[in-house]
Amino acid sequence: MPELEQALAEVAAEMAERSDRGNVATYIPQLGKVDPQKFGIAAVTNDGRVILAGDADQPFSIQSVSKVFTLTLALGKVGDALWQRVGREPSGNPFNSIVQLEHENGIPRNPFINAGAIVVSDVLLAGHQPREAIGEILRFVQFLADDDTIIIDREVAASERATGYRNFALANYMKSFGNLHHEPELALGVYFHHCAIAMSCRQLAMAGRFLANGGRNPATGHSVVSTERARRIGALMLTCGHYDGSGDFAFRVGIPGKSGVGGGILGIVPGVASLAVWSPGLNENGNSKLGSIALEKLARMMNWSIFAP
Ligand code: DON
Repeated sequence: MPELEQALAEVAAEMAERSDRGNVATYIPQLGKVDPQKFGIAAVTNDGRVILAGDADQPFSIQSVSKVFTLTLALGKVGDALWQRVGREPSGNPFNSIVQLEHENGIPRNPFINAGAIVVSDVLLAGHQPREAIGEILRFVQFLADDDTIIIDREVAASERATGYRNFALANYMKSFGNLHHEPELALGVYFHHCAIAMSCRQLAMAGRFLANGGRNPATGHSVVSTERARRIGALMLTCGHYDGSGDFAFRVGIPGKSGVGGGILGIVPGVASLAVWSPGLNENGNSKLGSIALEKLARMMNWSIFAP
């Protein structure tokens, strides 16, 4: 087995050569401006090593990867009561699909599809102004990454709001079933802003450490969530983290992951490391094309899999 430094450098060099990079998301106009040649990868191991390759220090829009952090916060607030308002099953549908909501009475399939994450935002709004809820999410991410330079890209948030007709439809539809407790506009304000958090691969891998270490920050030993909760968040990432591409990601990569349309993926190797990869071009399911391939290669090189003996 190669050293991790060598494996990361090899994967980054190989990805730099590839011309089949997928397509950058353009439905949020601000995301369409990102250079598809970018590629970064970071690994933060439970024993404290931080290994980087490519554009690993350049911030990008984490988009749906943020849903891992909002889910963690919402579970901290309301615990298992969350599951009365959001399911835990893969949807088999695209991230922004509305089709199941009618049959399932406005209860989204899982917290990672857009509808589910909007409900999670609504949960985080309880007792707060949107501005306070957004601040709480940002501070939580800064705390997890141990980095208070992480910011929200307001231009991305505004760009998404200006073109967010689908998300307004989802939120309004769920409101009609009584599954939003605040005005759709307010829940969406929280949602658009947490999707617009900008982080580098290094920062994202740092923020994911607690999931690779049974719920504890491996550097301080402090508990972020219980071991049981960390496992369950990992289970949701594995089954739902890549939308209708979740089965394929589990098949090819074999570890829990969460993607975003900014081209980032957070990957968790339980007991070993937190990984982040970024390549802006997306595959047909809206997940980073080279990011998935890079994680597949890295996992194979390092013999990482949650199914490893
Ligand atoms: O709501 C949206 O469409 C975006 N803010 C997030 C979607 C996303 O990242 C889907 N992931 N691949």
